[in-house]
Parts: sequence; C-alpha cells; structure tokens
Amino acid sequence: MKSILVTGGAGFIGSNFIRMVLSEHDNTFVVNLDKLTYAGNLKNLKGFLDNPNHKFIKGDICDTKLVGKILDEYKIEAIINFAAETHVDRSILAPKAFIETNIKGTLVLLEAARDSNLLKFVQISTDEVYGSLGPEGKFTEGTPLSPNSPYSASKAAADHLVKAFGHTWGLKYNITRCSNNYGPYQFPEKMVPLMINNALNNKELPVYGDGLYVRDWLYVYDHCTAVWKVLTKAPPGGVYNIGGCNEKKNLDVIELILNRLEKPKSLIRHVADRPGHDRRYAVDASKIIKQLNWQPSIGFEEGINKTIDWYLQNQKWLVDIVSGNYQKYYDSIYSNR
Ligand code: NAD
Ligand code: TYD
Repeated sequence: MKSILVTGGAGFIGSNFIRMVLSEHDNTFVVNLDKLTYAGNLKNLKGFLDNPNHKFIKGDICDTKLVGKILDEYKIEAIINFAAETHVDRSILAPKAFIETNIKGTLVLLEAARDSNLLKFVQISTDEVYGSLGPEGKFTEGTPLSPNSPYSASKAAADHLVKAFGHTWGLKYNITRCSNNYGPYQFPEKMVPLMINNALNNKELPVYGDGLYVRDWLYVYDHCTAVWKVLTKAPPGGVYNIGGCNEKKNLDVIELILNRLEKPKSLIRHVADRPGHDRRYAVDASKIIKQLNWQPSIGFEEGINKTIDWYLQNQKWLVDIVSGNYQKYYDSIYSNR
C-alpha cells in the first residue's frame, strides 16, 4: 500500500501503529486524521510528527467533506479506522459521544470508502463485542456478538455496518477484534497506566469489585504487527481475532505493577464495581496465527516491565495529562465510590 489513511492516529494504539509502519515499512505514506479529543495527544507523535511520509490532519471522521477530500487528495488506497471513543467507564457516564464517533463516524468513512473504490477498509474492533465469558471457553470469530456496555454496543454496531457494506456494495474490508492492549502512550484512564500512575504517586489503587475479573492482555506493538498483517495479507471479508493467549486476573496484574515499583499492597483499595462489568474475556487467535503467520513477540512480564520503564522515563507526558481536565474526570468516577 502506497498511501494509507489512519484515523485516531494520535491516540494510544493508532500512534504506536504509525510509528511501527514508518520505521518498518518504507514507501508507505500515512495520513493521520485525528480530532484530538481528550485522548488524542500530539505528544504521542514524538519522533514522527515531521516525518516526510506522515501528514497529520486535525479533523473529525464524522466530517463527510473532509474525509472525501483526504481520500481524493492523497490517493488513499486503504483506511485503518482506529478513531473511537474507547473507555467503558466514560460510556457509562455519557454514551452519546460513542454513538457519534463509533457508529456515525464509521458510517461516514464507509460511504467515502465505497465511493472511492478503496483497496481495503480495516475496522479496528474489540473482543468486547462478544460480551462476557464464564470460567471456560474463548471467543472465536464465530461467537455471536452480544455486547454489554454502551462502548461495546457502539463497536458492535460499527462491525455490523462494515459487514453490511461488504455484503451490499462489495467493499473490501477486514475487521480485527483484539483483546486488552497495554504499553507506551496509553491514556491513564485505562487500568494499567492508571495503576502505574497512582502507585508512582502513592495514591490508592481503585480495584473494581473483587478484582477477580479476567482480561487477555497483549502488548500494543504486537497488536500493531497483527493489524499490518491483516491490512496487507488477509483476503477481504474476514474477521480476525487478535490476542496474547495471556489471561490474567486484574489483581494479579496490579500486584505485578506494585512489585515492580516496590510499592506496598496496602495501596490496593476495593471500590464499588463497574455497573454491568464483564467478568471474563479470552480470545482464540488461532485463525490469524495459522492463516497470516502472526505471533505475539512480547511476553507479559517483559511487556509490563517495558511499559513501566516507559512511564518512568516519560513522567512529563503523564504529568501534563493528569494536571489537565483529568482530575475532574477522576473525581467523577472515583470520589464517593
Ligand atoms: P484512544 O482513546 O487512546 O484513542 C482514540 C483516538 O481517536 C484519539 O486520538 C482521539 O482523539 C481519536 N478520535 C476520537 N474521536 C474521533 C473522531 N470523531 N474523529 C477523529 N478522531 C477521533 O484509543 P485506543 O486505545 O488507541 O483504541 C484505538 C482503537 O482500538 C479503538 O477503535 C478501540 O475500540 C480499539 N481497541 C482498543 C483496545 C485497547 O485495549 N485499548 C483493544 C481492542 C480494540
Ligand atoms: P479497562 O482498562 O477500563 O479496560 P476494559 O474495561 O475495556 O477491559 O479495565 C480493565 C479491567 O480493570 C476491567 O475489568 C475493569 C478493571 N478496572 C479496575 O478495577 N479499576 C479501574 O480503576 C479501572 C479503570 C479498571
């Protein structure tokens, strides 16, 4: 692909994806369209903002005119849609923005893609569209969608739209459904960076409910290599689960972080649970492993250590975020909990 449009490229995974593309895949020009919501941050583009193969455009994926203009002007061959409202707790506080960006924004991109005969549309979805698992079993690509939060419901709606555009107009698409990511540049509302930030500041670590909820964790770089494989190698029309085969209870992840930072377990505080909290996610990623020869390259302890090191070395990045509107958000979620 010579010219690709990455949406949401100033967020956590999008910025890691563009960094990987520019350093590992010469001859790819990346247009990065991002609205710079609270989660978008130009500091996430460190090291590639001025790269001649990268063009940052501040804008909204809901802006039909702008999206059409970008596809024409840059002769875009593929769209990789990372742009989204992404935090479950915020979707419980205020779901509307999730409908706007995750559903209507995806529709705008799909219509533009259909009208410009794009070579590939990759929708970055999530394992959360499948709902919640009991103690056994894993999500496969055939598991029926059964989302439980406003966030996952909006992502599932977008997945259905993408599939419908493929079925109705022959749009060449793939959908990826990845498990929980962690790594550099993740906004400290999500569990891993929130716990790192609180531990660094000797603040209590708010564990929802009994803390025995299970997620499958994948280092962000491995998600990025999987998306690249899907973009460049996957036959159109397929869904690909992506996961680390690495299920962990929240409390186990948190204790690992505390140990590494040499902080006491007494910082852990069990707080009121998230309403509708999904108990367990686990992903069967055998399709992408077998069909596209993808493998995660970074084990969990190594990944957590790299992540903690990054936050230790980039405390200014963290301080700049938490000194802004973050405190207001934090209080709205955690005070009186
Ligand atoms: P993020 O919240 O860190 O970043 C989202 C980015 O999208 C931000 O830069 C934001 O400014 C931008 N954005 C939001 N609304 C926009 C709009 N209307 N127009 C243009 N840009 C807009 O999210 P993330 O964690 O990097 O997630 C990226 C994608 O990966 C999302 O689609 C998410 O559903 C999916 N995903 C995330 C995870 C995870 O663990 N974080 C796991 C699986 C899938
Ligand atoms: P999160 O990072 O929000 O991802 P998701 O809910 O999309 O999986 O949360 C990961 C897990 O950590 C989830 O079970 C909720 C839990 N959690 C806490 O216990 N405390 C917190 O402060 C946060 C943000 C999450």
